[in-house]
Amino acid sequence: MTDTLSMQIKKVNQSRISEVDFDNIAFGKVYSDHMFMADYKDGEWTNLQVLPYEHLRLSPANSAIHYGQSIFEGLKAYRSPENEILLFRPMDNWARLNRSAARMCMPEVPEEVFMSGLQELLKLDNAWVPSKIGSSLYIRPFMFATDEYIGIRPSDTYKFMIFTCPVGSYYSEPVRVRIETNYSRAYTGGTGFAKCAGNYAGALYPAKQAQKLGYHQLIWTDASSHQYIEESGTMNVMFLINDTLITAPTGDTILDGITRKSVLTLAREWGVKVEERKVSILEVVEAIKNGTLKEAFGTGTAATIAPIALLNHDGVDYTLPAIETREFSNKILKTLNDIRYGIAPDTHNWITKL
Ligand code: COI
Repeated sequence: MTDTLSMQIKKVNQSRISEVDFDNIAFGKVYSDHMFMADYKDGEWTNLQVLPYEHLRLSPANSAIHYGQSIFEGLKAYRSPENEILLFRPMDNWARLNRSAARMCMPEVPEEVFMSGLQELLKLDNAWVPSKIGSSLYIRPFMFATDEYIGIRPSDTYKFMIFTCPVGSYYSEPVRVRIETNYSRAYTGGTGFAKCAGNYAGALYPAKQAQKLGYHQLIWTDASSHQYIEESGTMNVMFLINDTLITAPTGDTILDGITRKSVLTLAREWGVKVEERKVSILEVVEAIKNGTLKEAFGTGTAATIAPIALLNHDGVDYTLPAIETREFSNKILKTLNDIRYGIAPDTHNWITKL
């Protein structure tokens, strides 16, 4: 590490880990002992530190609060049977964070800051990585503007931070989703591909309407015609129709999911026909009706491989094939888990060992 990027480490006096019931972890509610923080000022990253997890003091005029320069990432660390800590594709998260940063007029986070922050934090909080298959340590890197300023311009100063939480599944059951054809999440030329806070905030109201009716999430459609399926907001979505795996292509309205591309890589290697192309609602509904839709599932870091049990469109609930009959997505989940937990060899160089 260069001198300007030297890191200060301040440890907790007493760990909170004994308070955690690792057999019943609610997603995103329990935070491990430490966090990483770095400041961007005068065109460079400084003040790298790992310190006890604590609340921040912010100016009421903090420009991220008012004008939304705020981006984040999500990745996971897994514990192997040999007790090693394995990170799944962290460099892909680093690259995507910087694509989001560019779109939101925020500075790039150097690889050295991202990776050394991650590694130092995990070295200290190593014990927080669960060992049960299906559990992991969710890692949340994020960056936000810190100028104290009222007015529309990019902030001059930023914080980049990382904290972690031990997690189980994001969805505790196969998901029920409604295809949204009124509201839009993203539009051509917008910010849909970026992992920025505003994308999630704008999705809350329409999602809440669906949740009141018993659905877990929406499937978003394109903003201009509402005829083509995009993504779900918490995950990308895929369909197995006959023996072809079909998913919408990423572009400026769809998040370039890291689980999504891992699934597509494995499917192609297994000789499954993969089509990344526009997927119309009509095609999916028709495939459900004529029995050619075999599987539908979401892919995401938090969601992992989330089977879709029920799909609603235009007021009609369609029940999809039973989860236990879904050979492809069950095999994908097992294969990804075997790689992530270090049970199967990492032939794709997806794993970074701590
Ligand atoms: C992730 O998958 O990491 C996300 O950020 C999505 C969110 C539902 C937790």
